Amino acid sequence: TESGKTPKNIVLIGFMGSGKTTVGRELHHRLGYSLVDMDAVIEQREGRPIAKIFEEKGEAAFRSMESQLLHEMAEIDDSRRIISTGGGVVTQERNRALLRQLGYVVWLHAPIETILERTSRNRDRPLLNGPDAAERARVLLEQRKPWYAQSAHLKVDTAGLDSAEVATGILESA
Ligand code: S3P
Repeated sequence: TESGKTPKNIVLIGFMGSGKTTVGRELHHRLGYSLVDMDAVIEQREGRPIAKIFEEKGEAAFRSMESQLLHEMAEIDDSRRIISTGGGVVTQERNRALLRQLGYVVWLHAPIETILERTSRNRDRPLLNGPDAAERARVLLEQRKPWYAQSAHLKVDTAGLDSAEVATGILESA
């Protein structure tokens, strides 16, 4: 980390299963920054899991909740937070600008095989439920790549790295 700089927020973006949550925890422990897991905050506010929110209110409503939360964080001019986002946060243009305003944005990039492996173990991902999940994941990932690239200050290729190594890589270039 460059010395003399005000510690900023670190914002983790990337597709589902790219490791945002685990890398977020790792950075939180190492830096002592507070940890904001956006999905978890939304689940807490709504009192139900993400899958239920999608089911009962729809994806558009969930996207509004995400944007609202980003706005709130941008307004509270707090730094020293690790912010783990949901994989779809970059789909909204207004969010992409806000992310960069919030802090140092890091794109965790994982190979599709890794993503499929990780997401198949977890059912709370409404966009990847059902039989053609692998194909949908590929399509979504390709569609979102330009948005992740556009929003990020740093891209980290996580292939073959564990969360501790990814965290070290981020801290070395932050
Ligand atoms: C989503 C990713 C999820 C969650 C929701 C939608 C997406 O977060 O926000 O299921 O559109 O990619 P994770 O990236 O933490 O799985």
